[in-house]
Amino acid sequence: MNIVIGCDHAGFAIKTAVIEHIKEKGYNCIDVGTNSEDSCHYPVYAHAACEKILSGECQLGILICGTGIGMSIAANKHDGIRAACCSDTFSARLTREHNDANILCFGERVVGVGLALDLVDAFLGAEYLNSGNHVTRVEMISEIEKNCFAAN
Ligand code: RB5
Repeated sequence: MNIVIGCDHAGFAIKTAVIEHIKEKGYNCIDVGTNSEDSCHYPVYAHAACEKILSGECQLGILICGTGIGMSIAANKHDGIRAACCSDTFSARLTREHNDANILCFGERVVGVGLALDLVDAFLGAEYLNSGNHVTRVEMISEIEKNCFAAN
């Protein structure tokens, strides 16, 4: 599985640890930057990561900024992206199982490296349940996207 990972300056330190961790777990990791702690703009990296998923090159993504919030807002502006900002492992697992989230976001200023790696494990280790009301609701989200993006 190809995992795309991106961050801004406020997520750079933890991104390095996450990349090492997921490579050890056997995932292929595509890093879209940023590559230093120099101040930058998180929407650039959110967009780069979303493009990798929407093109089919990557199946899931991880985006890290100071809070995880800016990254999730930017990512969710893309049709077909369901980005979840999580700081607990229960949500990180459930957002795969119930929401079919394709990007996990979190904040380096919110979680420590230990929790960050657990969030990643919970997210990557879970699968979309793909049945019943979960499907209905994810389809409803897609319908909203279709209508909203068509209107613009
Ligand atoms: C950068 O200072 C910070 O605003 C950014 O990393 C992120 O937390 C925004 O949501």
